[in-house]
Amino acid sequence: MLRIGLLTSGGDCQALNATMRAIVRTLVNRAPEPVEVVGFEDGYQGLIYRRFRMMDPAGFDDVLARGGTILGTSRTPFKRLDIPEADGVDKVAAMKRTYAELGLDCLFMLGGNGSTKTAHRLAREGLRVIALPKTIDNDTWGTDLTFGFTSAVEVATRCIDDIRTTASSHGRVFAVEVMGHKVGWIPLYAAVAGGADACLIPEIPYEIDKVAAAVERRLDAGAACAIVVVAEGAVSRAEVEMPKKEYKRAVAARTSPSVAYDIARELGARTGREVRTAVPGHTQRGGAPDAQDRVFATQCGVEAALGFLEGAHGFMVAQREGRMCRVPLGEVAGRLKRVDPEGDLVREARALGVSFGDE
Ligand code: F6P
Repeated sequence: MLRIGLLTSGGDCQALNATMRAIVRTLVNRAPEPVEVVGFEDGYQGLIYRRFRMMDPAGFDDVLARGGTILGTSRTPFKRLDIPEADGVDKVAAMKRTYAELGLDCLFMLGGNGSTKTAHRLAREGLRVIALPKTIDNDTWGTDLTFGFTSAVEVATRCIDDIRTTASSHGRVFAVEVMGHKVGWIPLYAAVAGGADACLIPEIPYEIDKVAAAVERRLDAGAACAIVVVAEGAVSRAEVEMPKKEYKRAVAARTSPSVAYDIARELGARTGREVRTAVPGHTQRGGAPDAQDRVFATQCGVEAALGFLEGAHGFMVAQREGRMCRVPLGEVAGRLKRVDPEGDLVREARALGVSFGDE
């Protein structure tokens, strides 16, 4: 008998259930002995506090297209891992104890960057852990793609499409804010897919005058509206040049709900045009996974399970240049995959006339 643990950690995404289904199905089909599946509730919290369910493999049959996570999730910040909980619980010790008491052969952890750091820590503590690259942000180092990303881009793109019709009717400018605090993959892809006129991402600090000039150019050229895609973490050149403390103070002093509202206000003041803001927010993590996500999530789940059956662990499944592979957790943990400002898609977007607010 083999016994594996499953947990989903961090912000959810559309393809978590599809990934777990693939892990479980592969194990049921390919393992040389029966498999028991332990599902931990709410991410690492379930492992810490022994909150788990024994999962019937048949229970995964209908979850391929179901968004969210049937296990629940939570954020257990890596930087607080060694700080005991309010109730005094030593988190790492508790997780090791649960793993040992349940006699797990492996823990499959579906998570993003912080969660993968914790997985690496557990692996160094001697647990057999396999990580699977979940995040709508697509910022996990070591893999070209993460599951959740394409579905989120789809939602953000649909939002831009929908905004475009009303923006065109009124001849308005719209700032559409999409997810991405530290990296701009979703804004970049959604801007290209949605035919935006400007795209402001954390990796390329903007100057508001240059964004305003780009908007004016589009409208003067006869465009019916102008769409500026703004990453949640978009930063201006002036903000980047501020000392860190001053920048934090400026962010804390913001009275608007988020950055796109500030940008809309500044664009309105500079252009004298009607500028509105739209924020799809968590809808980008909601709903069913798109077809590409279902396929990629399934590939990740299958490869993770096959790796386990070969006796491998301590790795994250990944896709590089179209091939599935395994990357040691030590290589992934603590690194972010950012948009390369000189990369192909940025260059191509610029060629199309998309402004990044820097030139
Ligand atoms: O999971 C990633 C992410 O969706 C980011 O894109 C976003 O900045 C953040 O999570 C939102 O977090 P929360 O769901 O805690 O508001």
